[in-house]
Amino acid sequence: MISRTKRSAIPRIVFPRDFLWGSATAATQVDGGDDASDWFNYCKKPGRIKDNSSCISACDHWNHYEEDFRIMQKMKLNAYRLGADWSRFQKTPGKFDTKALDHFRGMLDSLRRKKIRPLLTLNHFTLPQWWAARGGWTRESNLEDFYKYIDFIVEGTGDLVDEYITINEPNVYCLLSYMMGIWPPGESGFGGYLDGMRAQRNMVIAHCHTYDRIREIHARKKFKSPRISIAQHIRIMDPLNSGSLLDVDRANAADFRFNRLFTDAVHEGKLIRPLGNGETIHDGNAWDFFGINYYSRNMISFNLFTPHLLFIKESTNEDGPVNQLGWEIYPEGLTRAVMSAYDRYRLPVRITENGIATSDDLHRSAYIEDHLRALHRAMELGVPVEGYYHWSFMDNFEWAEGYTAPFGLVDVNFNNQKRKPRDSMLLYSRIAKTGTL
Ligand code: BGC
Repeated sequence: MISRTKRSAIPRIVFPRDFLWGSATAATQVDGGDDASDWFNYCKKPGRIKDNSSCISACDHWNHYEEDFRIMQKMKLNAYRLGADWSRFQKTPGKFDTKALDHFRGMLDSLRRKKIRPLLTLNHFTLPQWWAARGGWTRESNLEDFYKYIDFIVEGTGDLVDEYITINEPNVYCLLSYMMGIWPPGESGFGGYLDGMRAQRNMVIAHCHTYDRIREIHARKKFKSPRISIAQHIRIMDPLNSGSLLDVDRANAADFRFNRLFTDAVHEGKLIRPLGNGETIHDGNAWDFFGINYYSRNMISFNLFTPHLLFIKESTNEDGPVNQLGWEIYPEGLTRAVMSAYDRYRLPVRITENGIATSDDLHRSAYIEDHLRALHRAMELGVPVEGYYHWSFMDNFEWAEGYTAPFGLVDVNFNNQKRKPRDSMLLYSRIAKTGTL
């Protein structure tokens, strides 16, 4: 990280006037009150979540949204990436909850009135318990249920929202849920590897079909023409030892499998290998911009003892600064991620997540400045970047880490749900207001 004194010597940079300055959350991580999700069940068994907490309370954003959106408005943020959890709207098969839909419409309407543009994530890891019990994403025949949920939510809210993320981070989901066994359904080993590949294949199919479905609904209902993408977690994969052919080879494999497999398939509209045999599933590409979630870099080496992870071993650069979860803080990686995504796909980019788990808010401020500079560098080099959504608006339920990893621009006291914007939020607000850094 650059020291405070050196910072003042750095020239000012200016972002475009119409740049989107946002923050992001996910429904399970903030909303609270949803007892029909697979995550709610998963949290019940002691030992699975670091602090043995549950997502059932989270930030009670579902009831505090007005207060939260007022903070965003006051801080001059003009965009918000929020999520809808399917389990909230369809607790049991066949029955959709129109009251929950009305409530959600109230949230979107409140954002509109405050001139905060919503970007709606339709699936962010969490599944309804009943669908997870049927095998969730691992069975192609299950996808029809997902499409009914899409119809329900898009037909019910498409007059208030026109930008969508269909699925958040299929790569992270498949890795942690099926290969590393630390998220529901908790699979690992060779069986988990195969299920993870099946899930990823079906998620590509679901994304492509959902892309068309959303467009069809918006056209039929005369809603504004939508813009649709996925949010892909991109991690820089560098070889631990750049002189080792094996490490370089596994770093390339990790880059392809983790960073590019899903997006190449979406871009080509094909089930590319190893997701399939090149079958066409979409007429041309199925996205309108690239949503990139960027946090960190992994150092990759060859490891004989991880055959189920394709002999890949991840570690952290020991010389670099790290966040509270041990992830390297590597701003340059954001320039690299954005440049290589644009070189490959030639689509406008949005940073749909970027942030730091830290209890020292000074580090968060430095993280924001350094990453915005890195992003601006990519823009200077010609990449059309439409916006930046900081992860996260507020401290929240950080999946298996429970409430132990504060990512928020806003501090949340989980005993009384009191919110307090941090200094880093004030800094971010100044940047958003002036468009300069
Ligand atoms: C996920 C978020 C998560 C964040 C920080 C991303 O991979 O989309 O849900 O909270 O990383 O771990």
